[in-house]
Amino acid sequence: MNVMIVSSEVFPYAKTGGLADVAGALPIYLNRNGISAKVAMPYYTKFMEGKHNVEDTGIKLNVGIKGDNIEVAVYKDNSRGYDIYFLRYDPFFDRDAIYGTKDGDYEDNYLRFALFSQALLKLTERIGIPDIYHINDWQTGLIPVYIKMNYEFSKHTDAKVLLTIHNIAYQGLFPSNILHDIGFDYNIFHMDGIEFYGKVGYLKGGIVFSDAINTVSPTYAKEIQSPEYGAGLDGILRKRSEVLYGVINGIDYEKWNPETDTHIFKNFTIKNAITGKAENKKALLAATGLKGVHKPLFGIVSRLASQKGFDLFAKVADKIFKNDIRMVVLGSGDKRYNELFEELARQYPDKIYAKIGVYDEDFARKIYAASDFFLMPSMYEPCGLGQMIAMRFGTLPVVRSTGGLKDTVSDIRNRTGYGITFEQYREDALLNAIKRASALYKNKKKMNALVKKVMDMDFSWNGSAKKYIKLYREIRKI
Ligand code: ADP
Ligand code: GLC
Repeated sequence: MNVMIVSSEVFPYAKTGGLADVAGALPIYLNRNGISAKVAMPYYTKFMEGKHNVEDTGIKLNVGIKGDNIEVAVYKDNSRGYDIYFLRYDPFFDRDAIYGTKDGDYEDNYLRFALFSQALLKLTERIGIPDIYHINDWQTGLIPVYIKMNYEFSKHTDAKVLLTIHNIAYQGLFPSNILHDIGFDYNIFHMDGIEFYGKVGYLKGGIVFSDAINTVSPTYAKEIQSPEYGAGLDGILRKRSEVLYGVINGIDYEKWNPETDTHIFKNFTIKNAITGKAENKKALLAATGLKGVHKPLFGIVSRLASQKGFDLFAKVADKIFKNDIRMVVLGSGDKRYNELFEELARQYPDKIYAKIGVYDEDFARKIYAASDFFLMPSMYEPCGLGQMIAMRFGTLPVVRSTGGLKDTVSDIRNRTGYGITFEQYREDALLNAIKRASALYKNKKKMNALVKKVMDMDFSWNGSAKKYIKLYREIRKI
């Protein structure tokens, strides 16, 4: 079976969040399990020029955007044992960021990702049309719309399309007058087409025209069919519920490995995890100027977006820091949360260190390895990778039980549990979770056993890749 995974970000070439991790790791495990998986993404010149093993294939594709005929160059990296294609058009993709700056999204995102989607289809006409297009999020949502509603792409109608929704809140909404610019007529602009409350919705188009849809956890697949979590798309998702699946993400156990990680202060395995983690903690505290190796250390590595529960955190921050805890935060995102953590670090310099506004893979790994607990108080969470990465490093998750967090973290109140969870998105619930973690920390025997237990669990891609393969097989029958 041939699968083309299409994503606007792929680790290690370009990343803003978990989508890149998924698009970077899944193809490795598919290829190991007998699927021929290729990957395609835009060529972000600023991040990629001169890096990696990316080579010009010499292939040039012609794409019609805004009535212009645009030439897209094709680059390729095959040093990983499978082909990753990069579609290059510098006026659109040679920018400082992937989607936009701190002042907002790039205004021509609708053109950038329409071009990318069309170029991808032109590419497969040259290198071979796959059995399955596995597309991801709104940036690739137009692909099935082109296949089904634009005659130029009718060659692809035998291929099936699976859309994975990583986050329903990002929908790619644009004014209705863009339709001609991206190669469509108004005949698709209605409720059962691409229209979403008077706008053109790229994710909506993907949901309507794909053969099947999945989200990144079984719980989130249920949640988004409700008005509370569906962000306006719950109705159309309920309509398509027969082909709506939930497949939990894995993490790459080779990339995230405390035994071999060259960034952390001290490598460790499950056997010497307790002393190994203690050394990492000591070194991280020293590096951040905090004191208190015997106080519970909470780590946060996160995009700072409202999704992640920091409004709730802000409301109880003063009460949280009344506890004798330590916290190290790495995050970047919305201005208000950047300021929140900077302010807390000024207010409670003995308790919290915050590195804000940067993406820092090195520091992230140090936090995962050194912390006792990893905090994710998410308002909603499609899957969440942070909690799984943390557990790989022997760090216990403290999470709100929602979406993928619910599917991957079982509370210690359960006989086989290993984390701390809370249900309600409420201040007292979060505060109570922090208190329960602090109490657990004092019970050294239990704490140490749980550290080993989470390290022994398997959240690797092995299992999840097999679930995708099963899903691909089902979709081919549709
Ligand atoms: P999301 O995709 O919603 O941001 P996930 O938990 O799925 O959340 O994935 C987040 C990924 O991004 C993890 O690999 C995490 O380590 C990483 N990450 C988030 N913020 C930063 C940061 N500032 N620096 C380094 N890595 C980060
Ligand atoms: C999104 C979600 C996150 C998920 C990631 C990868 O960014 O917010 O929960 O883990 O995609 O699927």
